[in-house]
Amino acid sequence: MRRLVLATKNPGKVVEIEDILRSLPIEIVAISAYKDIPEIEENGETFEDNAAHKALATAKATGEVALADDSGLEVDALRGAPGVRSARFAGEDLPRGRERDRANYEKLLSLLKDVEDAERTARFRCVVAIADPYGKVRMSEGVCEGKIAFTPCGCGGFGYDPIFIPHGHTRSFAAMPQDVKNAMSHRARALKAALPLIAEFFQLLR
Ligand code: IMP
Repeated sequence: MRRLVLATKNPGKVVEIEDILRSLPIEIVAISAYKDIPEIEENGETFEDNAAHKALATAKATGEVALADDSGLEVDALRGAPGVRSARFAGEDLPRGRERDRANYEKLLSLLKDVEDAERTARFRCVVAIADPYGKVRMSEGVCEGKIAFTPCGCGGFGYDPIFIPHGHTRSFAAMPQDVKNAMSHRARALKAALPLIAEFFQLLR
């Protein structure tokens, strides 16, 4: 096996992941290249549960090594919420996209309306899981520390980007060029930490 299947249908994530894994001598294909793969549920209690479940289900369905990620925003003043429920924080029924993203960050801003600057610390966390069809799973993690702004700013990115200001910066993720965000993001960090794990699956280590 020399093929890694990415268990994501998000084209932005596919590009970001391909870019970071470019140095590996393996073929990378998105799950959208396969027909008749059943929808994979994301209802675990942790990022690890969700990432491992998605990677394993994809590896078993395709017969190849698979990589999945799960991520979210942890706000200290909300004791780690929205966390694993980041995508559905404002409700289960809103369709994926800009409107749901706005509803999610508006809810977060309203919960934090009386929280002062020093208490607005937060982090994006991402867990990457790699699995093979026989049940082997390895995981890596990446974190990006920062704080929650008082008002949304910037029109790039997705999700909570307009209200997240990474540590050491004054602009939100949404107000930065995509490549600047990608270089420091939780996903980039988790993927870089996953490089030796992927090499182990494909026995590229000498
Ligand atoms: P998932 O890993 O695609 O399931 O992401 C879960 C949710 O976390 C997304 O729907 C976003 O709301 C949020 N999220 C994850 N990564 C980011 C990011 O880089 N920027 C903004 N929001 C993010």
